[in-house]
Amino acid sequence: MTPEKSQDPPPSRRTVRSFVIRGGRQTAAQQRAMDELWPSYGVEFSEQPADLDRLFGRQAPRMLEIGFGAGEALLAFTQAHPELDCIGVEVHKPGVGHLLLGAEAAGLKNLRVICHDAVEVLQQQLAPGSIQLIHIFFPDPWHKKRHHKRRLIQPEFVELLARVLAVGGTLRLATDWEHYALQMREVIDASAAFANDAPETGFVARSEERPLTRFERRGQRLGHGVWDLSYTRVSSPSQ
Ligand SMILES: C[S@@+](CC[C@H](N)C(=O)[O-])C[C@H]1O[C@@H](n2cnc3c(N)ncnc32)[C@H](O)[C@@H]1O
Repeated sequence: MTPEKSQDPPPSRRTVRSFVIRGGRQTAAQQRAMDELWPSYGVEFSEQPADLDRLFGRQAPRMLEIGFGAGEALLAFTQAHPELDCIGVEVHKPGVGHLLLGAEAAGLKNLRVICHDAVEVLQQQLAPGSIQLIHIFFPDPWHKKRHHKRRLIQPEFVELLARVLAVGGTLRLATDWEHYALQMREVIDASAAFANDAPETGFVARSEERPLTRFERRGQRLGHGVWDLSYTRVSSPSQ
């Protein structure tokens, strides 16, 4: 049987990425985490949709955090929600190692981690409608105008989010760059697949569940505001 043809362009043709692999040294503890804990928590990237029931050994609603950095928010959320299965996607290995150490200390069973470009994970590894909640907190702002094209939140990426998020599911975002906050709002509001949960103002109050991360603290030091957005995945005519 020939596999179904994908509508998405082959990943190799993508030249503009939302990240650069930072050198950032792994500490010895993070390296140990990668060696010893990756077999329990890590999921290798695959071009085939993952069997999430098998990966977690149960059926449960699923949340996905994209670009979790050092994993503070993901760790806290996963601990607070044993009823959910949580998946983190991050390209920065030291961050992954840091999260694995926290997961081990907390004895988490409901967490899996993919160390790969989220664009390809959304395109290929996650089945349509397989996720109930997506978090994207403080994505790289790429604040210079010539770098805006690297920002994660673009119309094509929003289509990928809509693909994996189940109808009725929630997309939560936060940023400390006003220009990016306005771009997020403009781009996601324009998608027929999402309804803004705060249609009047566009932004919601900071969720108490979201712990202060290193990036948010840095924004505070720089005197930045913080903008939180929340959207519901609605059924769109193209579905
Ligand atoms: C500014 S940091 C924020 C980290 C974290 N969310 C926080 O609030 O502290 C953005 C993170 O997104 C990751 N990232 C950027 N593009 C990504 C992509 N396409 N796939 C996976 N991770 C990505 C970066 O490696 C970085 O760790």
